[in-house]
Amino acid sequence: MERIRRIAVNTGGGDAPGLNAVIRSIVLASLRRGWEVLGIRKGYEGLLDTSKIVQLDRDSVRGITHLGGTILGTTNRNSPFQYPAKQADGTTALVDRSDEVVENFNRLQIDALIAIGGDGSMRIASGLVKKGIPIVGVPKTIDNDLSGTVITFGFDTAVTVATEAIDRLHSTAEAHERVFVVEVMGRYAGWIALHSGVSATADVVLIPEIPYDIASVCDKIMDREAHGRRFSIVVVAEGARPVGGEMVTRDQGVGRERLLGGIGVQLAEEIELGTGKETRTVVLGHLQRGGGPTTFDRLLALRFGAAAVRMVAERRFDVMVALDPPTVLAVPLEVATERMKCVPLDCDTMLTARDLGICFGDSDGEK
Ligand code: F6P
Repeated sequence: MERIRRIAVNTGGGDAPGLNAVIRSIVLASLRRGWEVLGIRKGYEGLLDTSKIVQLDRDSVRGITHLGGTILGTTNRNSPFQYPAKQADGTTALVDRSDEVVENFNRLQIDALIAIGGDGSMRIASGLVKKGIPIVGVPKTIDNDLSGTVITFGFDTAVTVATEAIDRLHSTAEAHERVFVVEVMGRYAGWIALHSGVSATADVVLIPEIPYDIASVCDKIMDREAHGRRFSIVVVAEGARPVGGEMVTRDQGVGRERLLGGIGVQLAEEIELGTGKETRTVVLGHLQRGGGPTTFDRLLALRFGAAAVRMVAERRFDVMVALDPPTVLAVPLEVATERMKCVPLDCDTMLTARDLGICFGDSDGEK
């Protein structure tokens, strides 16, 4: 077996707290083995424009474990398989530039790539493995929607931020006898809404997995009113939608995923109409992604980074490291990308929420 000499690492997709901890872990574990580490800037961009490649040594990763963002930069656009290119007529077309990525990777004599990212990055990784690049994936996303791993780093931080925000809204909601709608991120999965909503004792939690009936939401609020609880907290996932309705999304142009967000304002209007109660909306947005990782996310990120290096050392490629508590193991990239991990409606946290009387805007469970 040929010796590993040089590996590369990149961070792709939306940033998530813990990315720097993974990078540090990868670099230190690699240097210990006598490997050289290259940092590819801005996802796969650095393999198309190699001036974006930096050498990572001990000094470059000093003191970054607790920092948010990523020292390598990231992007959630421009897959090398569907790269936007301006055409002569001024329009933008998507072209496949993956062969250039492979050429540059080989030219730089990199033995393996550790790709840190979410579902989009893992799908790109899987495509590049098929073209001969040896890759180990590391799962990150605040949305926790990647299959194959029980949890991704970034999720715990996002839930913690959302929980703290919802906790704070209770007192002002009660003081003014208002309804507060808190819109959280999560894309097409309701993990952040469910975990923060239950932890922060929301009265209503609306998730993409259960289309909601506005009448059920208003009934819950009015039921609380009848019992002297004149304020309510509604947590809504950005991907939630009413029965028979659509998610609120915005087009971002060629080659870009639709941007979610806006359901909170829409819902607040419906609640005000249905209950007559003054309703305010708070959109937490990127606050959930910014800043440093929680202890849980730091440790998970450090463990994922070191595990990815062990996989490279064992030459186990086309895999993604994953948490199957208490173990960090490797799952085929294919498993990680085959489907989105949504909230199972019979999972323990859902059952707990139902038992606590949280309304999901459906006819199941307590109102
Ligand atoms: O995937 C992470 C995430 O924060 C989603 O929860 C959200 O829908 C999206 O990224 C926002 O993307 P952007 O950073 O492009 O606004």
